[in-house]
Parts: sequence; C-alpha cells; structure tokens
Amino acid sequence: MQSNYGTPSVGLARGKGIEVWDVEGKKYLDFLGGIATNILGHNNPAIVSAIAKQSKTLSHVSNFYAHEPALLLAQKLKEMTGDDSARIFFCNSGAEANEAALKISRRTGKKRVVAASGAFHGRTMGALSLTGQPSKRDPFKPLLPGVRHVPYGDIKALRRAVTKRTAMVILEPIMGEAGVVVPPAGYLKAAREICSAKGALLVIDAVQTGMGRTGQWFGYEDEGIIPDVITVAKGLGGGLPLGAMIALGKTADLLTPGSHGTTFGGNPIAAAAALATIDEIEKGRYMSLNLVKGALLRNLLSPIIGVTKVRGKGLLIGIVLKDSKAKDVAAALLKRGFLVNAANDEVIRIAPAYVVSDRQIMSFVSAFNDICEEIYGG
Ligand SMILES: Cc1ncc(COP(=O)(O)O)c(C=O)c1O
Repeated sequence: MQSNYGTPSVGLARGKGIEVWDVEGKKYLDFLGGIATNILGHNNPAIVSAIAKQSKTLSHVSNFYAHEPALLLAQKLKEMTGDDSARIFFCNSGAEANEAALKISRRTGKKRVVAASGAFHGRTMGALSLTGQPSKRDPFKPLLPGVRHVPYGDIKALRRAVTKRTAMVILEPIMGEAGVVVPPAGYLKAAREICSAKGALLVIDAVQTGMGRTGQWFGYEDEGIIPDVITVAKGLGGGLPLGAMIALGKTADLLTPGSHGTTFGGNPIAAAAALATIDEIEKGRYMSLNLVKGALLRNLLSPIIGVTKVRGKGLLIGIVLKDSKAKDVAAALLKRGFLVNAANDEVIRIAPAYVVSDRQIMSFVSAFNDICEEIYGG
C-alpha cells in the first residue's frame, strides 16, 4: 500500500460491538467507530444478516436497471428528510456525495461557492476545493476556482461573502475533522436566510454528523430549516461504502438523464446494509439515547485535569486539552486499549458506535482520567 496514511499503529483482525481485537489478540474499545462510520458497531447481527441475504440474491447491477434495495433506501431517506420532494443520488463516499452537490450547483448556471475555513468535505479535487484546510489543499493547487472560505459560525462574514453569483454554500452542522467545532445556535438558520435571499443553494454536509449521531437524522433539524441539498455517507452503510446526495425542492430536478453517474453507487448489498442500519437505529431508539450517552460522556470528561472544554453533541465529541497534548493522550489511550483520534494537537475526537454501553463509557472515562492525572497532575 502507498504511504499516504503513514504507518498504521495497529492491525485489526475482528470486532464485536465496540470491541475490536488486533492481530496479536489484544482487545481495544473502539471509541472512534471507524471515524463515525461503524455506527452500530462491528458484527451487528441485523446488518450481517441483511448483507448475507442480499449477497445471495443480487450483489451488483449496473445503473441501467432498477433494484429493490436502492429504491427502498431512497424512499426511506426521503421520509427521513420529512420532505416529499427529496430525490436521491447514490454514490460510495462522502467526497463523491459532495462532488455530486458541486455538480448540481453548476446546473443553476452559477459557479461560485462559499464554504467554511477549517471545514472538511473530502479529498477528491472538487471536494478538496471545498475543504477549508490549507495543509490538505496547498500541495494540490491549483484547485477549483471561485471557492471562498469564511470563518465558521460567523453570520456576518457569511452574509458578506454570499452574492447573487453564488451557486452554493456548503456547511457542516458541526465541523468534525476540524476538532468537533459547534457553531452558535441560529447559524444554519441564518445561512438558510442568506442563501434564499441571494438564490444560492444551501448544502448541508451531514457526512460525519448524520445518521442519528447528534440526535437527529442529519444534524440541521433543530435549526428548523430545509436545505436544498444534504450529503451523507460514513454511517449510512452501517460499515459498507455508501454515500448519498439528497436534493430537495426544485434542486431535485437539476440532474437530468446522463448528467452524472457511478458504477457502484447504491449497490444492492450496501443499500441492504443501510436499510438494516436505519431499521436498527429506529428500533433501538438510538437517536435519543445518543443524546443521553453524549451528555454523560461530556459531564464525566469535563472536570478531568487538563481538559479545558468538551465540545459536541450526542456521540460526536471533541475533548479539548491543555498544552497541545492530544497526540500524547491518544497514544496513551491506545496503549491502554482504547481507539480514539487526535483531530489536531489540542483535540481528541471520539465518535463511538451507538451501541456503546454505560459500562464501556465508564471504563473509557476512568482510563482518560488516569492518563490525564499522569500527564497533567502534580
Ligand atoms: C463532513 C465530511 N464530509 C466529507 C467527508 C469525506 O468523506 P469520505 O472520506 O467518505 O470521502 C468527511 C470525511 O471525514 C467528512 O467528515
């Protein structure tokens, strides 16, 4: 394999729930969940069974033909938006969902885009152009022209940047890769008003916040808005590669036959896994449970020495640490058998599967506390 990921610290062999075992048999608690992707944990019986059943029936068809899993999933996603006008384009990843959003925005006849500094929207050239992180962008310039980045959460800056020539504004409901940055209440509502006033599409990138992680299907709902486009991936396939670009209202008609496509998007097995995932989330009432578990984690982590702030919502949490020690804390957690991610030097990000138990939460907090006592204490 190429060295774009660096050398992985652990080789994983198997998993069950949020427990995973490495190739030497050491057990870890996976508090990262494949970066917000294995949302119902590893080896979930309902997902395993849906995949097995579908793989014995129909594993792939070209997009010349229809198949039931994709149709049922599109119907389900439409219901989840609560908007009958929603139309779905299936792809394989978050970057591809955002590429599709970019293409749909070009169909408005306009080309300019406004995105947020620090935002992450993917690594392909179009999605990278939307991404607001210089370290990821700069080595690959020139990127797509006409993309402007504004400070996240700053309504005035957004208002100044969006003009009648803006095709789309793309925002994460919470910036995940940037270290779980939560905007002020009312930000997405203001973004909706600004976009509507200027005729720009509002694209909500729910790739990381979506699928119930923050207590809502997509993460914008408590702002009472209807976006023009929603992008999802990561948890959608319950661990299988699947993304979707959901367009609403008039935007839903902008992609005409032949204007976009992909071989694997909405693959029957991935779609069947997604249907099982959504069904399990509903049956387990995980959306409201995630809010409770998230509050428990935040309350327990906040008083720990060295922790300056705990950000996030539901089970997307950023633990902000003093003195740029996030990588040290992440390495110490790994040694003690916990998988997390240092989103940057200051922030540990956790995004465990929704099946995480209170007991597992307590053991994580206890290890976190011990490590911080060692690093920051006396
Ligand atoms: C908000 C957001 N958008 C897009 C992406 C890109 O998704 P993918 O890695 O599936 O291309 C990510 C991945 O972390 C993300 O967090």
